[in-house]
Amino acid sequence: VILRPFFSYFGSKWRTVPLYPRPTWNTIVEPFAGSASYSLHYPDRGVLLYDSDPVIAGLWAWLIDVPEDDIMALPIDIPTTVDALDVCQEAKWLIGFWCNKGTTRPSHTPSKWMRSGVDPTQYWGANIRERVASQLQHIRHWRVRCDTYLNAYSGLFGTWFIDPPYNNAAGRRYVESAVDYESVAAFAKARLGQVIVCEQEGADWMPFRPLAAAQTTRGRSKEVVWP
Ligand SMILES: C[S@@+](CC[C@H](N)C(=O)[O-])C[C@H]1O[C@@H](n2cnc3c(N)ncnc32)[C@H](O)[C@@H]1O
Repeated sequence: VILRPFFSYFGSKWRTVPLYPRPTWNTIVEPFAGSASYSLHYPDRGVLLYDSDPVIAGLWAWLIDVPEDDIMALPIDIPTTVDALDVCQEAKWLIGFWCNKGTTRPSHTPSKWMRSGVDPTQYWGANIRERVASQLQHIRHWRVRCDTYLNAYSGLFGTWFIDPPYNNAAGRRYVESAVDYESVAAFAKARLGQVIVCEQEGADWMPFRPLAAAQTTRGRSKEVVWP
C-alpha cells in the first residue's frame, strides 16, 4: 500500500520518491521528516520521524494516535478562519495545511484557489477528510520525536532518508531552516545501514550525483542525491 499525503507541505517529495532507491532495511528513519513522503511509500516498515518544527512533529504525533471518528467529526466548512473552528490545535494545523498547497506552515484562511472551488478534492473537504481517516490504520506503529536530527538514535541500523532544507533560497522558507550542512554531511556518513541524502543541483556539501529531472508541485527542478 502507498499512502497519499496526510498534509500538503512545501518541498514534499511524494511524487519523486519512486526515483530514489527502495529501502533495504525494515526500519525507515526520516531525520528531517516534513510530510514524510518516503515513509508514505513504505508505511508497513518501522518508521521513525524527527522534525524540529513543533507544528510538524505535533501534527504527526496527533495523527498517529487520533481515532478515525475524531477526523470524520471535523467540520468541512470554514465560515471565517481556521482558528475560529471549535477543534483542537492539531486539527487546526491539519485543516490549515489543506487550505493552501505547498506551504511551510498551516494557513489561517482558505486560499483563493480553495475558495474558487475549481478542484475541491485538492483542498480541505469531505474527500481529504475521508482520505486522512482511512489511512490512519497504516501509521499506528509509526513514531515521531520533536527534535533535531542530531539527536536521532545513532545506534539504529536502518534506511536513513535524509532530506534537509535545500541549501538555497527555497530551503530558507522553512520555519526551521538554519542548518549547518557540514554537520549534516558528517551525520549522513556516520549512519548505520542505508543512507539516502537529498539536495538540489548546485549543492556541493557532499559529492551529489544527479537523480533525475523531477516534477514537483512548484515546477521542474533538478534533484541530486548521495551516494
Ligand atoms: C525538505 S523538508 C522535508 C520534506 C519531506 N521529505 C517531505 O517529503 O515532505 C525539511 C524538514 O526538515 C525540518 N528541519 C529543519 N531543520 C531541522 C533540524 N535541525 N532537525 C530536524 N528537522 C529539521 C524542517 O522543519 C522541514 O520539515
